[in-house]
Amino acid sequence: MPDKHIELTEEVYNYALAQRSDANDPLLASLYADTLALGEVGRLAVTPLQASLISLLAGLIGTKWAVEVGTFTGISSIAIARMLSPGGKVFSFDQDFKYTSMARRYWIKAGLQDRIDLRLGDARRQVPFFRPRELLDFVYVDADKESYAAYYDHLCPQVRGGGMLVFDNTLRGGEMVDPNLRNKPINRAMDAFNRKLATDSRVQVVLLPIADGMTICRRMPPPGSELRRSIDTRQLDRVRIGG
Ligand SMILES: C[S@@+](CC[C@H](N)C(=O)[O-])C[C@H]1O[C@@H](n2cnc3c(N)ncnc32)[C@H](O)[C@@H]1O
Repeated sequence: MPDKHIELTEEVYNYALAQRSDANDPLLASLYADTLALGEVGRLAVTPLQASLISLLAGLIGTKWAVEVGTFTGISSIAIARMLSPGGKVFSFDQDFKYTSMARRYWIKAGLQDRIDLRLGDARRQVPFFRPRELLDFVYVDADKESYAAYYDHLCPQVRGGGMLVFDNTLRGGEMVDPNLRNKPINRAMDAFNRKLATDSRVQVVLLPIADGMTICRRMPPPGSELRRSIDTRQLDRVRIGG
């Protein structure tokens, strides 16, 4: 491992946390506090650093139409919805009534209730029938790990060229490389999913070791399109410059 990777101590983490544009956001702070007050289950929440990154990415690519699988108490949906361009929406899937009720309360507090469309129920049944009217810009998946491949197979073709798909927990606490744990079905599924993404020419992929692993994919434009050609040309230039 390159020695540039520093140890993530409490102090370093808190320092990084403080250096964000939305570090002092009172609404998200209150939602985090209420989520953590739920007890052990509060650990399911996306981390504040991840939420800021998701928000930045969604804004960066000019997101209008987004899908989220795994609403929970609504932190990531708020992070995405705040960045939507006018008239846009986040379609957010979750099967839990209790936790999504907290999400709904906070969407109202944030004035985002018209921007987030909660699809309550089993996402494994709902997502395969989801057909957006326009191509999606941004997808964030943070739900049942065994279904990531199925969600990807259905949603990837519905994302525009230059759009993004983000998957959470893709390192599974490092269990995929632990000889004692890597054969657990959930870890095998995540490992197969990670390998599938890394070799899929429809996307450009990076797995970031942030929190429990977060994979960011950029949907490649269709072959032959102007956008694709400009990306390919830049790659050629880099090869030439590198000699
Ligand atoms: C890790 S939490 C999501 C955290 C959330 N993104 C946040 O901002 O904090 C996972 C959520 O996925 C939901 N979930 C898990 N399996 C599901 C399924 N098959 N269908 C719908 N929701 C599911 C759970 O109810 C839970 O709320």
